[in-house]
Amino acid sequence: MNIIELQDYKILLGEDIWTELAYLLEQRQYSRVLLLVDENTGRDCLPLFRANINLTAHVIEIPAGEQHKNIKTCQGIWQAMMDYETDRRSLLINLGGGVVGDMGGFCAATFKRGIDFIQFPTTLLAQVDASIGGKLGIDFNGIKNSVGLFSNPEAVFIYPPFLDTLPYRELRSGFAEIIKHALILDEKYWQTIQKADRLSPHGLTHLIQSSLHIKQHVVEEDPFEKNLRKVLNFGHTIGHAVESYALQTDTPLLHGEAIAVGMICEAWLSHKTFVLKQSELKAITDFILKIYGKPQLNPKSFEQLIALMRQDKKNEDAKINFTLLKSIGNAIVNQTCGADSILDSLAYYQGLEG
Ligand SMILES: NC(=O)c1ccc[n+]([C@@H]2O[C@H](COP(=O)([O-])OP(=O)(O)OC[C@H]3O[C@@H](n4cnc5c(N)ncnc54)[C@H](O)[C@@H]3O)[C@@H](O)[C@H]2O)c1
Ligand SMILES: [Zn+2]
Repeated sequence: MNIIELQDYKILLGEDIWTELAYLLEQRQYSRVLLLVDENTGRDCLPLFRANINLTAHVIEIPAGEQHKNIKTCQGIWQAMMDYETDRRSLLINLGGGVVGDMGGFCAATFKRGIDFIQFPTTLLAQVDASIGGKLGIDFNGIKNSVGLFSNPEAVFIYPPFLDTLPYRELRSGFAEIIKHALILDEKYWQTIQKADRLSPHGLTHLIQSSLHIKQHVVEEDPFEKNLRKVLNFGHTIGHAVESYALQTDTPLLHGEAIAVGMICEAWLSHKTFVLKQSELKAITDFILKIYGKPQLNPKSFEQLIALMRQDKKNEDAKINFTLLKSIGNAIVNQTCGADSILDSLAYYQGLEG
């Protein structure tokens, strides 16, 4: 088992985490334990969870998907907590992807001014990204993560076999954050991930561990996203816009698929406006295309993509803010680019052979 110690809590990773969970539960003597799942993790992960630990827990099941990450679902969760007579000495275990983790954490952190919660991430995205850093929240009026807070779990338990039932597209989507971690902070790690030819859950454990170390480093240096933490935005300025736009079409993209496009465009911007070498731009482009193929963008959408970027909460004034790469493994935050360069970067993507 690998243990990563953060200031306030531990992340435990491996197939042998269960004794640690049993120990934690034994020590804390919670008055009640509640388990939050969505319909998919209730079907695919809960039986595996139960097979590994003997625990009396009330299960709360919510519908799956980002469209349910809202106040209405929270009301259902809080109601279930009331029905089960949850008190301040109770525990909520969030067994699921980033939606269950963000929303379950939010409900726990606000119920009776806060009860303990544990993150049990079951998607690759949640294992390497969403489950650490303490950001919790829900979408409001269609705006992602616009209501929430920072609050840390009691622990994060990462059990890689949960990934066995995760659909391949979801697995590949989470892998985009792993690519991002390598590109922004760790050139050696970049070399390692390029050897991962076909993504399979079994080959991923050591990559999850490296990514966790990178995210740990970043969030501990900058817990409230004042500066360094912005390195995690690489690929996300253009990627978020591509994701939002695609959501309104009949070919929506998963988060990581859109971020993959964003990373190619922002690598181009890094090369054009900065010092990223042509050879590194090519290496990044080739690797991402090999894994994700090339989702088509409609050139007619480009102006709308720029408008979406301007709305992005990261932007002060009208300028569009980026995290760019000086070289692979070396990111620089707070770079601004004009609309013309951004359009050129989209044209670069468009011109690639995919
Ligand atoms: N808090 C943060 O710092 C942070 C960081 C990144 C993303 N997020 C949030 O995370 C969310 C996205 O997370 P996600 O990609 O995990 O989405 P998700 O929770 O919707 O999970 C994706 C799909 O996989 C299913 N699933 C989950 N685990 C499974 C398993 N083991 N087997 C079979 N099916 C499984 C889910 O039911 C869902 O249908 C977004 O809401 C995003 O805002 C938060
Ligand atoms: Zn992301």
